[in-house]
Amino acid sequence: MRRLGAGAAGLAAAGTVRGIAVAPLAPPVFDPARPELFWEGVRALFPLFDDPVYLNTGGLGPASQLVLNKVTAVSARLQQHSETGHDLLAPARETMAAFLGARPDELCFTRNTTEGNSIIAAGLALAAGDEVIFESHAHPGGSFPWLNQARQRGVVVKLFEPDHASAEGNLARIRDLISPRTKVIQVSHVTCTDGLVFPVAAIAELARARGIWFHIDGAQSAGMFPVDLAAIGCDSYAFSGHKWLGGPHETGGLFIRRDRLEAVAPTGIGAYSGELPHLPGEIKYFGAASRHEYGTRSAGLVAGLAEAVRLQELLGRDRIAAHGRELAVMVHDGLAGVDGIAVLTPQPAELRASMTTFRHARAEAAKLFGYLWKEHGLRCRPVTEQGLNAVRVSFHVFNSRAEAARVIAAVRAAARDL
Ligand SMILES: Cc1ncc(COP(=O)(O)O)c(C=O)c1O
Repeated sequence: MRRLGAGAAGLAAAGTVRGIAVAPLAPPVFDPARPELFWEGVRALFPLFDDPVYLNTGGLGPASQLVLNKVTAVSARLQQHSETGHDLLAPARETMAAFLGARPDELCFTRNTTEGNSIIAAGLALAAGDEVIFESHAHPGGSFPWLNQARQRGVVVKLFEPDHASAEGNLARIRDLISPRTKVIQVSHVTCTDGLVFPVAAIAELARARGIWFHIDGAQSAGMFPVDLAAIGCDSYAFSGHKWLGGPHETGGLFIRRDRLEAVAPTGIGAYSGELPHLPGEIKYFGAASRHEYGTRSAGLVAGLAEAVRLQELLGRDRIAAHGRELAVMVHDGLAGVDGIAVLTPQPAELRASMTTFRHARAEAAKLFGYLWKEHGLRCRPVTEQGLNAVRVSFHVFNSRAEAARVIAAVRAAARDL
């Protein structure tokens, strides 16, 4: 197989980790005549077990050996002279911002999506009776920060049921809920339940026209497909590093549009958030979203996240999105019409991406999930939210057409046997 040489400088690394031999770490070069070889080469970068087949990137995405090596190397180096490595955050922020179509001063690192969502929910100036609209399929990491504000500040939560027929249908459902008290609209860019993709640019336009803050929970979109925040036009976007981006666990970030920075009151601040040479006095916040980063951070984790982003760029963001979509559509189509199986993921191409969710007419989610794992070696994710009683599969760079075919065969067997 052809592999990148000097072009992958900084990514290619040694063949052993702590004395354990690992696969060659140079990312493969794409040959349109042999795409399967490319994906096999990508798979070799991930120290994932083959059994069970990992189909839960939407829950937690594995990191490549390149990323793990980076975390280990940076952390070890910093520990040798016990330095924080805080100076590594700025270049990582630049890498991350360029990847998301943002400016470095519009981005801060967080521990996960939930933290980014929480900064927005707690930081916006909202009064009792002000309303926030979001979808009923929101993950607890997206809904709880607002339910908390409902409890703490009397914010009113208004939910809408996602429309599976069209992007316009979702816009209409949001539009119908808007009132003079609506201050915030939030959607999951991609729902964690059935992988529905919301039309975020159109929602941003709707919100902007009404002077409503638009926040995106991007846990499932960052790294699943290209995201250009400047083009979308949202006010804020929270994301996880440890899902589709393939970053280390406990990494994430929050984007706040430059001209909206002051609208989000910092809820957690400290060293690196601002300046105050002497007490008593008034702190002067730094003029960037990084004011929401405070105290000692793991520079190794952040460097690992930047490495994960570089790998995605090298593999090709459009190519990654197309691959995930191809496998998800394969399963979608392969299960259509199977007696006893209902595919819950929307059919229109504009409403779906790299995840497919399906329900068994007779088997509970837990039973189907357990069956797929134990009998067929497939690690999926049960979807119990909103009583959906279904199972979700996520397809990313290390998954193959053969694995998608295995999913189809296994679910067909479940339809027969359960
Ligand atoms: C839509 C959505 N939001 C938030 C989260 C929580 O992410 P994190 O664990 O990074 O906070 C998830 C996790 O699956 C999710 O799917």
